Amino acid sequence: MKTIIEPFRIKSVEPLHHTTAAEREAYLEAAGYNLFAIEAAHILIDLLTDSGTSAMSTEQWAAIMRGDESYAGSESFFRLKKVADELTGFRHMIPTHQGRAAERILFTVLAQPGQIVPSNTHFDTTRANIEFMGARAVDLPVPEAADTQARLDFKGNLDVAALEALIAAEGAQKIPLVMLTATNNSGGGQPVSMANIEAVRKVCSRHGIPLYLDACRFAENAWFIREREAGYRNWPPKQIAQKMFSLADGCTFSAKKDAFANIGGFLCTNDDRLAQQETNLLILTEGFPTYGGLAGRDLDAIAVGLEEVLDPDYLRYRVVSTGYLGRHIADRGVPIVEPPGGHAIYIDAGRMLPHIPRHQFPGQALAVELYRHAGIRSVEIGSLMFGAEARHELLRLAIPRRVYTQSHIDYVVEAILEVNQRKEQIRGLEIVEQPPFLRHFSARLRPL
Ligand code: F0G
Repeated sequence: MKTIIEPFRIKSVEPLHHTTAAEREAYLEAAGYNLFAIEAAHILIDLLTDSGTSAMSTEQWAAIMRGDESYAGSESFFRLKKVADELTGFRHMIPTHQGRAAERILFTVLAQPGQIVPSNTHFDTTRANIEFMGARAVDLPVPEAADTQARLDFKGNLDVAALEALIAAEGAQKIPLVMLTATNNSGGGQPVSMANIEAVRKVCSRHGIPLYLDACRFAENAWFIREREAGYRNWPPKQIAQKMFSLADGCTFSAKKDAFANIGGFLCTNDDRLAQQETNLLILTEGFPTYGGLAGRDLDAIAVGLEEVLDPDYLRYRVVSTGYLGRHIADRGVPIVEPPGGHAIYIDAGRMLPHIPRHQFPGQALAVELYRHAGIRSVEIGSLMFGAEARHELLRLAIPRRVYTQSHIDYVVEAILEVNQRKEQIRGLEIVEQPPFLRHFSARLRPL
């Protein structure tokens, strides 16, 4: 059989509710044309994020019931530790309430003002946490990533020559760590190859700089390696993931992505002294080291999710179903970041709406139009999110894991193609009000 199906069936459903065009217009106006400010009840299909929005499995719900809520030494912690240790191989696993809490602790301990943290591409919270410490977050994607239309296998890679040049220019002591975000979320959900991780590892080792993975979507990345990189075709995804982790000195992880959990994360390191400092900070803001800001039941849900996500049937379906959305709109003239990523499709709004200049936020204008037309929520990843640092004006359609069926996606395809037919009529936006950082979450805008 050639048809790839959802490798699960549905036991519990959440009803969806339609809204009228007039209602959506009113919600948009009240929200300041910022989709983060719209109530979820007023969204039909929510592609804002794949983070924390997964459907948990029966085994995860069963694990929730087994959760041990002891303050110290909870059995849930040891169940998670066993799974995480076997997967990552790192000496220390420090649970946190989500990925950015791990980032905050890591950079508080490792990053000094004036230092530089390079990455293939930092995610927005990672960048913000680095900058909050007075350090500089530098993106060094491979040059091929600049062409959204190039269909290459590993556009998430870090530019190794640029990293060497940066180290030569600034000195290794100015670089407390190098990060690799796998998959590269802000860079279009594109994977990082094993060869690239190995090459970055070599440079880091030569200069005594620790290498960290931002491992949010490690399983999707492992699947792309299996499909696209020579030598891995017969490897189980878990073994590929283990090799990825073995090349790093530590990782940050948001369990809200590739662990199917609704909350959670962790910070790993092989450095005993660092782990001690990190644990001290953890106790200050997150909690005791065996729960780190989570309930015992969350730790158990993550432990089960970390194993489920490496199922080849799931990963095949995941990558194929995301590609289905991408191909159906791209092959009918909507420019996307090629090739389709693992967790999301990114429309190149700058290319689709050339009549809207960057400072009028083409990605946001398209997000607003897609909600207005069909009740679909997506997110701008462009000048509204990153300001002058933005490389592209993208609109991300992130696919929650195991949540929407193919007919939901067919509805999304139809809506995008209809909006594309009258794209010349879409107008840009201007900012009316904005906070000092991470402005995309709460800025208010108005149509021009
Ligand atoms: N790193 C990456 C690559 C991410 O995509 C995210 C979150 C984080 C770190 C932070 O993790 O949310 O648990 O604190 N990304 C979500 C998204 C929010 O929509 O892409 P968190």
